[in-house]
Amino acid sequence: MPKKFLVIEDIDKPLLGSVVARALEMKRTKQRSDLLAGRNIALVFEKHSTRTRVSFEIAVRQLGGGVVYMTQHDSQLGRDEPVEDTIRVLSRYVDGVVMRTFEHSKLERMWKLSSIPIINALSDDYHPCQVMGDIMTMVEYGPKLADAKIAWIGDGNNVAHSWIEAASCFPFELALACPEGYDPKPEIVRQAMNQGARITLTRDPAEALARANYVYTDVWASMGQEDQAQDRMAVFRPYQVDAAAMALAAPGAKFMHCLPAHQGEEVTTEVFESEASIVWDEAENRLHIQKAILEWVYGDLDYSKYCLA
Ligand code: CP
Ligand code: NVA
Repeated sequence: MPKKFLVIEDIDKPLLGSVVARALEMKRTKQRSDLLAGRNIALVFEKHSTRTRVSFEIAVRQLGGGVVYMTQHDSQLGRDEPVEDTIRVLSRYVDGVVMRTFEHSKLERMWKLSSIPIINALSDDYHPCQVMGDIMTMVEYGPKLADAKIAWIGDGNNVAHSWIEAASCFPFELALACPEGYDPKPEIVRQAMNQGARITLTRDPAEALARANYVYTDVWASMGQEDQAQDRMAVFRPYQVDAAAMALAAPGAKFMHCLPAHQGEEVTTEVFESEASIVWDEAENRLHIQKAILEWVYGDLDYSKYCLA
């Protein structure tokens, strides 16, 4: 059975910290290898991307493999060829698919018919590679994950869902402040809390920000929600991360954002460009964590020597 990484928990929980530790090593050693020599990966993107597309392409190349990039605009996906048919064809050409799409269920439907690994490069519900890279960034900055609190301020969206899922796999505390009507999906929260995640939900950003070591936000309208952008602007205004919000967090708190950012909306330029902002490290770490994820998919590494301190 080929591996999949559609959600964070597709990697066994005890191994997740090891994959992060391995990514840190790969970053430190500027790892190059021939792990993917002779293998090709299809990057199938139905939404825009800068970081994910480029970092995956470079990750595959640094591991010795090749890529083919396709979108719905230049393939039969855009002319209603079903994903079920697409994956059965791709399974005969390439050795894996990295896919960015809308409905998360599309990835699951593809997986059922796939004979090659599939990695989620973002869906409407999850962005697991992003959050794994962000956890790597938190490990670099400290404090220890068990002592870290993250405040999520804004939309209960795909990135928030992956944070919620991550909170059931890693020992950090997660507080989400979302406006009414924009909460994360209750079943995702419930499932994480049932597995011991330390999560609180509030409408009040100040409550979430108290003691937070990391302040995280994302755009108010995600890809695919462009038609709601105007309405959302008014609802989310009190959730803007500005200097006053950062001042409510723990001393030395860092600002995080998956990018792309809309300065002046979810974050002020002052905060985005401040010393506290670690957004470029987050972006860089996408490359390293994805190399570690590809290695988990295609390699046979002994993870016993990799663990987070
Ligand atoms: N953070 C992120 O996934 O960025 P892209 O949309 O540019 O890939
Ligand atoms: N929530 C954003 C994340 C972009 C990386 C979106 O889905 O558009």
